[in-house]
Amino acid sequence: MGLGAAVRRRLGPLESPAAEAYRSIFIDLRRFADRLAARRSAERILEIGCGDGSTADQLCRAFPNAEYVGIDVAPDPGRRCGVSPERTSFSAITSSDLRRTGPQPFSLVVLVDVLHHIPDDADRRTVLADAVAMTEPGGTLVIKEWSGHRSLGYGLAYAADRYVSGDRDVRFTTEAELMALFEDALPGWTVAWRDVVRPWANNIVLALERR
Ligand SMILES: C[S@@+](CC[C@H](N)C(=O)[O-])C[C@H]1O[C@@H](n2cnc3c(N)ncnc32)[C@H](O)[C@@H]1O
Repeated sequence: MGLGAAVRRRLGPLESPAAEAYRSIFIDLRRFADRLAARRSAERILEIGCGDGSTADQLCRAFPNAEYVGIDVAPDPGRRCGVSPERTSFSAITSSDLRRTGPQPFSLVVLVDVLHHIPDDADRRTVLADAVAMTEPGGTLVIKEWSGHRSLGYGLAYAADRYVSGDRDVRFTTEAELMALFEDALPGWTVAWRDVVRPWANNIVLALERR
């Protein structure tokens, strides 16, 4: 268990505010979701690697009419999500497992800070292929990553993921490497727009759509 998880468990009711405050050091998730909603509408949202549900909360707020599905390989996904279960569902399954169930396609498929927790390129490709397979025609795949260009923020994020989250295999990728991965793994898809989310220039958002 990472240091962060051990500390969080002892915080009780203070866990959520503490987790949100900690996360806000790295990214303004509210702004991320608002900027996404300004770009497009969505009826169904899939988040792959949803974690505790911090991004789920913001996506459901910014897309008030959307149905949200969150999956994660870790146990108890969406544990801290405050949105009604009537419009959210969370499952501890892989993207390939979900894909096999043949879900109704999603208008928006989102991965927020997930790829750098998947060290192996083949596994990244599998998740990306699953993501686009579950995206409806005209839908958007949004990858929010922590770009591996060196900065003070980069060092902070590496230390947080390596020592606080306890992920020994964390592997950040430069934006150029990500683009090359998409080019290779997602033929027929192109980056339709790009964004940067405060407070760090490392927070890049790449939105992919079918050509
Ligand atoms: C930094 S957390 C981000 C959680 C959430 N997206 C957010 O923004 O709050 C990264 C998450 O990715 C999940 N993850 C790692 N590899 C995954 C995979 N192959 N498929 C789905 N989730 C994965 C981890 O379990 C973890 O919950």
